[in-house]
Amino acid sequence: NRPIIIDCDPGHDDAIALILACASSDFDIKAVTTSAGNQTPEKTLNNALRILTLLGRTDIPVAGGALKPLCRELIIADNVHGESGLDGPKLPDPGFDAVSEHAVELMARIIRESDQPVTLVPTGPLTNIALLLATHRELTDNIERIVLMGGGAETGNWSPAAEFNIFVDPQAADVVFNSGVPITMCGLDVTHRAQILDEDIDRVRDIGNPISDVVAELLDFFMIYHRDPKWGLEGAPLHDPCTIAWLLKPELFTSKDCWVGIETEGKLTQGMTVVDRYQVSGNPENATVLFDVDREGFVDLLVECLQHYSE
Ligand code: BDR
Ligand code: CA
Repeated sequence: NRPIIIDCDPGHDDAIALILACASSDFDIKAVTTSAGNQTPEKTLNNALRILTLLGRTDIPVAGGALKPLCRELIIADNVHGESGLDGPKLPDPGFDAVSEHAVELMARIIRESDQPVTLVPTGPLTNIALLLATHRELTDNIERIVLMGGGAETGNWSPAAEFNIFVDPQAADVVFNSGVPITMCGLDVTHRAQILDEDIDRVRDIGNPISDVVAELLDFFMIYHRDPKWGLEGAPLHDPCTIAWLLKPELFTSKDCWVGIETEGKLTQGMTVVDRYQVSGNPENATVLFDVDREGFVDLLVECLQHYSE
């Protein structure tokens, strides 16, 4: 099994990514760490503990991370994810505590001690991952890859140019994309194609186990924000689960290796991922950028993973 650490800011789609990862025997989930993003750091940490409690995975160590982005003040997405960060379903209170180690130290220790290179899966702002890479350079050789949700070649969603996770902490993203560690970027290009439609939510609800019921309610809530016709979407984009889906079934995705630079200073473009799709900059490729997904195959994978919880 592939050792992974999920660094997330749950968040509806982060929660679904966690649920998918825990359903698969392909992963050895070494830790879940939390970043500030969709909600305050206290709430995202609490939400990770609540989801793992729901899944009965209180064996996975959970650690809270940085309280704010490297240079900027924290921006949260309560307009998308609600007051708790996971509004909608009724979730259990945490049945266990976070470890006392800081997220960055926990990640560092796991990577150092692992006899197999560890894959990092960040689905929130990249603050913790940047701190890890900046403070533990010696560990980069034992990081297999960073499979992240963030950015977009064509568009933004928090500003016209920037996607939320990168917009919140562009300086952190800059450290990560310049780290030399192989990166898979699941940006808006692909996540806006990984849409979940009303009939897919019905399929999830029909599975009828306690976890699929929660996922259906998470999706119902997540759908509200994305129903606004301004997005031009038919359903809700399942951003963060694309990371786990790519690790499980990369054949569902279309990708291209590109150089990606992060705009940290632009007046209108802070947090933009500048994707050199046509190799015009001459800069060496630093990321595998996902552009498209077999949407039906993606939904089938989601359903298969959730059926696992009926067994
Ligand atoms: C990203 O922002 C958050 O709201 C989601 O959890 C996802 O990680 C999408 O832009
Ligand atoms: Ca997220």
